Amino acid sequence: MAWLSIIGALFLQYSIFHIIRFIYRHWFRKPFSWELYRGEWAVVTGASYGIGAAYAVELAKRGLNVALLARSIDKLRDVAQQVESKGAKSQVISFDFAKASSEDWKQLENQLNSLTVSVLVNNVGVNVSLPTAFLEMEEEKMDQILQVNIVATQRITRIVVPKMVERRKGVVLFLSSGGGVLSPAPYLSVYSGTKAYENALATALAGELESSGIIVQSVTPFFVTSEMSKIRKSSLAVPSAARLARDSLQSVGYEVCSNPYWFHECIATILSYLPLKLQIRYVAKLHRGLREKGLRKSAQKKE
Ligand SMILES: NC(=O)c1ccc[n+]([C@@H]2O[C@H](COP(=O)([O-])OP(=O)(O)OC[C@H]3O[C@@H](n4cnc5c(N)ncnc54)[C@H](OP(=O)(O)O)[C@@H]3O)[C@@H](O)[C@H]2O)c1
Repeated sequence: MAWLSIIGALFLQYSIFHIIRFIYRHWFRKPFSWELYRGEWAVVTGASYGIGAAYAVELAKRGLNVALLARSIDKLRDVAQQVESKGAKSQVISFDFAKASSEDWKQLENQLNSLTVSVLVNNVGVNVSLPTAFLEMEEEKMDQILQVNIVATQRITRIVVPKMVERRKGVVLFLSSGGGVLSPAPYLSVYSGTKAYENALATALAGELESSGIIVQSVTPFFVTSEMSKIRKSSLAVPSAARLARDSLQSVGYEVCSNPYWFHECIATILSYLPLKLQIRYVAKLHRGLREKGLRKSAQKKE
């Protein structure tokens, strides 16, 4: 069966090419150089803890000053101290992306326009506290997810990017998610929809802003340790927020949609070989399990 051998040989070559590219990308490729951005400002939304705080510290390590936005002022101050301990400047801005009025936005615009902002990390994001069926979600929660993950993210991008265009320099990252982009996410329907939106927005902007010297990237991790994931301990499949932020900042300027942590890319590759129906069933079962576990935990706490 000559044709079978030809198909086998082609498949082998294709697989070897992908494996070599994967190894190169994660372990041998030159990380993005942040030298040109030293001394300039990065704006990180949702920076009081979790992934946003990790990005803030990693950016400070690379010589950038960081404006930190979230609601919890004390936690923001803790992160600001960590930023300053790396020799960078910080600015703490208390801002509620779900409830900000037009006046609040105007004030934020003035504050940010007084800085030379070269980097925007659109990290702020909210989700349901446990995986929840679409029909059981409260309308108010749905609105909050859309408001923070889409409307507010879009708005701050429109505030910050024009100055980058003027200066023909900038990096804009969107914290999208593997769930919704690389895999379906039953029981996280609205959240994953917003993450797919952010991914689409990022890829469109990447095309629109490339000629202005601005790099736009969508970051699509799976689970990372944080309040949102409720996973405290890192493992092979679940990197720490610091690890994700570090890997992400190294991958800037390469893939437009980046899955920066190596094991997450393995998960995405395996999932991509499964028919969509199987992926949906698998993730639905996983999320139902997480919901039951979460409900059991909160029942135990109440006892
Ligand atoms: N963790 C994961 O497994 C994972 C996986 C893929 C993608 N992501 C994405 O990564 C991003 C960060 O996730 P995370 O896990 O670090 O989340 P997290 O632990 O819940 O942290 C969320 C951050 O956003 C801030 N925030 C929440 N609501 C806000 C509001 N209304 N106004 C202002 N700030 C607000 C929080 O601070 P305050 O409470 O102080 O306001 C906090 O700093 C999100 O966009 C998420 O979708 C996470």
